[in-house]
Amino acid sequence: MNLYTIPDNKIQAAAALLRAGETVAFPTETVYGLGADASNPLAVRKIFQIKGRPNYHPLIVHIAAASQLPAWAQHIPDAAWQLAAAFWPGPLTLILQRSNQVPNEVTGGQDTVGLRVPDHPIATTLLHAFGGGIAAPSANLFGQVSPTTAQHVHDKLGSRVGTILDGGPCRIGVESTIISFVHGEAVLLRPGGLSVEAIEDTLNKKILLAQPNSFKVRASGTLDSHYAPATPIEIHPADELWLRAHRLANLGYKVAVLNLSDYNECVGSAEITSFQMPLLADEYGRELYATLHRIDNASFDRLLAEAPPVTQEWVAINDRIRRAAQGTANETEILVREDSR
Ligand code: TXA
Ligand code: MG
Repeated sequence: MNLYTIPDNKIQAAAALLRAGETVAFPTETVYGLGADASNPLAVRKIFQIKGRPNYHPLIVHIAAASQLPAWAQHIPDAAWQLAAAFWPGPLTLILQRSNQVPNEVTGGQDTVGLRVPDHPIATTLLHAFGGGIAAPSANLFGQVSPTTAQHVHDKLGSRVGTILDGGPCRIGVESTIISFVHGEAVLLRPGGLSVEAIEDTLNKKILLAQPNSFKVRASGTLDSHYAPATPIEIHPADELWLRAHRLANLGYKVAVLNLSDYNECVGSAEITSFQMPLLADEYGRELYATLHRIDNASFDRLLAEAPPVTQEWVAINDRIRRAAQGTANETEILVREDSR
């Protein structure tokens, strides 16, 4: 028996909570979601309150099957149906024109809506038991690292959530890929668990990349500093990583190093701890957020990440760690100046 099977009555109880307008945190193949009844504005508002998320940031509506698309979206292009058929259930979110039934609370007042069919037995069972759409962002505080275990949700949101369904660690560990069809052509808004190549192969054409500020969308994942751990983070190529780590350690910093190569120079410094990451992008993605949560819990002063390869399969990971490092830039400048005195 799968260790993480949840008894049916627990899922039925969670569905009843959703019907009563409460929130339910649940596992998906990407990250844990903080769900509420997508057709109930009051329930949806609770999500924003719990996360501390500005209410103009739209939420993804999770549905049980592509056949439910027309209830939530209209003017659905053929290419969107093609992607839904090829990749749902799976780590792909489609942004489409919303139907009239979608509350403003879900879309942040925009006339578009994000939709996805998650690929996780507990999410599927919950969606079927509930019957409707479940609006759910990642179940973390706004701007922080997404949860990939029920414990992460518990640590950060705890008693504020109606219930937390434990489905074990998420299989993919990085959020869904977001493709918008609202300007006609497919546009990538966020790289994620599904590769852009797989999408292009299915559509038999290249997809456009969203240019910052060129689309009138408000996607919180596109804010500069997002998915950010509490520990300031810097990214360095392998050959500069350890030099930098030792410089910081000499300044009295407690340093965590996220290293890819097994070359490891932390020996001899009590201030430096190395977190060896997997060499395969899939495995790295699965472990990334859990490692960031561990590092945050251990109160390091600085996290140095070895720059991952710049190839297709690493796009989503590069995106997340570069966003996570955004907020550190200014502080790093100061440190470099001190350091060079
Ligand atoms: O893998 C995932 O997508 C996870 C799981 C729980 O499904 N969900 C997730 O939700 O990452 P969230 O809210 O943390 O990120 C969803 C992103 C946000 O950046 C949001 O702004 C964007 O999708 N989004 C949602 N609806 C949108 C819309 N109508 N137009 C543009 N962006 C939208
Ligand atoms: Mg999120």
